[in-house]
Amino acid sequence: MKFLLKVFLFLLTASLVIIPIQIFSQQSEKEIDRKVNLLLSKMTTEEKIGQMTQVTLQAVSKTQGTKDQHHELDLQKLEDAIVKYHVGSILNVWDVAHDINYWHKIINHIQDLAVNKTRLKIPIIYGIDAIHGATYTKGGTLFPQALAMASTFNVELEKKVGEITSQEVRASGIPWNFYPVLDIGRHPAWPRLWETFGEDVFLISQFGKAYIQGAQGNNINNPDKLAVCLKHYNGYGFPITGKDRTQAWIGERMMREYFLPPFKAAIDAGAESVMINSGDVDGIPGHANYFLLTQVLRNEWKFKGFTVSDWEDIKRLYTRDNVAETPEDAVRMSVMAGVDMSMVPYDFSFYEILLKLVKGKKVPIKRIDEAVGRILRVKYKLGLFDNPYPNKKFVNEFASDEHTQQNLEAARESIILVKNDDELLPLKKNIKLLITGPTADKLMVLNGGWTITWQGNEEVLYPQEKFTIVEAIESKIGKQNVTFVQGSDFNKTLDIENATEAAKNSDAILLCLGEPPYCETPGNINDITLDAAQLNLAEEMIKTGKPVVLLMIEGRPRVIKAIVHKIKSVLISFLPGMEGGRAIADILFGDANPSGKLPITYPQHVNDFTLYDHKQLESKEGNSYDPQWAFGYGLSYTTFEYSNLFFSKDIIKKGENLVVNVTVKNTGKVKGKESVLLYLSDLYRSVSPPVKQLKGFEKVELEPGESKEVEFILTPQHLSFTGIDLKPTIECGVFAVRVGNLKKEFTLK
Ligand code: BGC
Repeated sequence: MKFLLKVFLFLLTASLVIIPIQIFSQQSEKEIDRKVNLLLSKMTTEEKIGQMTQVTLQAVSKTQGTKDQHHELDLQKLEDAIVKYHVGSILNVWDVAHDINYWHKIINHIQDLAVNKTRLKIPIIYGIDAIHGATYTKGGTLFPQALAMASTFNVELEKKVGEITSQEVRASGIPWNFYPVLDIGRHPAWPRLWETFGEDVFLISQFGKAYIQGAQGNNINNPDKLAVCLKHYNGYGFPITGKDRTQAWIGERMMREYFLPPFKAAIDAGAESVMINSGDVDGIPGHANYFLLTQVLRNEWKFKGFTVSDWEDIKRLYTRDNVAETPEDAVRMSVMAGVDMSMVPYDFSFYEILLKLVKGKKVPIKRIDEAVGRILRVKYKLGLFDNPYPNKKFVNEFASDEHTQQNLEAARESIILVKNDDELLPLKKNIKLLITGPTADKLMVLNGGWTITWQGNEEVLYPQEKFTIVEAIESKIGKQNVTFVQGSDFNKTLDIENATEAAKNSDAILLCLGEPPYCETPGNINDITLDAAQLNLAEEMIKTGKPVVLLMIEGRPRVIKAIVHKIKSVLISFLPGMEGGRAIADILFGDANPSGKLPITYPQHVNDFTLYDHKQLESKEGNSYDPQWAFGYGLSYTTFEYSNLFFSKDIIKKGENLVVNVTVKNTGKVKGKESVLLYLSDLYRSVSPPVKQLKGFEKVELEPGESKEVEFILTPQHLSFTGIDLKPTIECGVFAVRVGNLKKEFTLK
């Protein structure tokens, strides 16, 4: 009786706790819908179309703001944009970062006009590309780029990146971030590979969700949260040529199997907006793709947020893609396909054309109401109608020591040790070191694009107090023990003789090679092999006979087959961010133990881009997966042993979960972190199965001699694939699980 009473009381309390929360969230959604509908009912067609229009700050400025010129708003143009054209959104891809106070001035001017001079006082939603931190705010915490973050295999760190970035961006007065990038990086030459979380669909989905949880939290109305924008929906990351903004051929099965799931997971995690693919899939430009933008996103997934075009891409349907015969046709096609907001961004042509189309009944007002409703909904959710102005609350925490410390930890965990013969690393602190190569003495190479400027290549604008690799090593082992001779630029031989000479007085050589910063189309390459000048420098350093450590700092895997076998130790870093120099020095000298793993396949041959989750026929009958280093590969200064791979059952029924346990032990002499990766293989099925696919990962930290049991739960979703009918399908049969060097099979009956 007492027990029943307890149960009753428990249920009562639980219901009291749970029910009000549900009612609250339902009511607030309802309340927002009510407000949106009320506002829509008061709006003129002009005001509605203005909401769908986004212009760049450059279009309303007197001077652009470059490293040589201060930015200045053109208040008359700004007023025209907001009052005459009713624009709903502004963005910038400026050439310089500004301090927080200047940002506040800009946002205040913008919102003052919206709130005081427009009839309905609809606030502006300002958007920005804060890709790896608050890019355009001076001194912002700039984390490792996405590919480096994925190398940590640590979603907790990614969540922190989301939290800190949104806090710093919002502290600048900006509530909308064009991030995360959920493109799947399956072409290693693509110049935006480093903006992705790598080649694996599961890894990307997990990192995307973690970022969104950090950036949006449970309520984007909180002053330190913002609305994210998923991009670039969809298929952008797989151009056949490897060149940016060129076409992809992705059939519907591949689209559903690899490209859609990260976006679906992010939408389920509450993402509020989506940016559209600038390229073309199967001959259909992203901005004219009704199937993706409406059928999948709206009808299947019930996405309630809004979509925004990418830069000038509606115009491009006419000027570049030749699918629209006139600019009018381009606007009609894109809006009817499902584009809600146009990043025009230099003029008001979209506004004028769309107005004409609506008045001429070529675009139904119903479609306009739908688009505007979605935009207003996010503005309400962000709390912009209550207060569109910058909130000063988090200004003091901007780029705090705590944020810098988080950044340093992320950078350390992002570095990947792929070769360490004779345990050359870690180096002793009392050695004389020659550092050479083009990536050793610059901050911009650690950060890449979207850093302070779009291309990230203005070294003079970088914060001088931060450490390059040379500076970080000098501060660790003493300036007198370090000699730096650049030896070569990225693609030009410099003073190699001086480097060779300096090697004579050194105990070891740190060879810092890789890529300059770049972003989007300017980063296109014709050859994925590392530049000849750098390979030449490497050969000359190898010839000196001194032990060489190769450090690759790059946004994509440049082929280095010619030198790898002649070098004892190799470290890879896919752009470790503003604390990258310190993190690398810590790893080199053993103050941190490397724990990064490759989130992509590192190709060995220039014409072999086979990925880790390839189909059987790609590694059978004369074909092979023969990378320089495989996906998931990465060493440590300690060793880990896997044992006791154990299942809750050996036979499961459809719909059941399977619990997988494994023990990991640190069998070396130093503390270390290990990312435990679980791969699943469906041995036989109607659509040819990949050899294996990542279905779980967890990072553990272990003292020497310590063991931990790691548990994974495989759900029916993990066993599912896109079937012959293009629907999620699970087929009975035998599955293999691989963790570390262990393998075990179970049967689905
Ligand atoms: C890029 C987007 C970016 C947009 C706005 C485009 O060129 O493709 O990723 O968000 O510009 O800066």
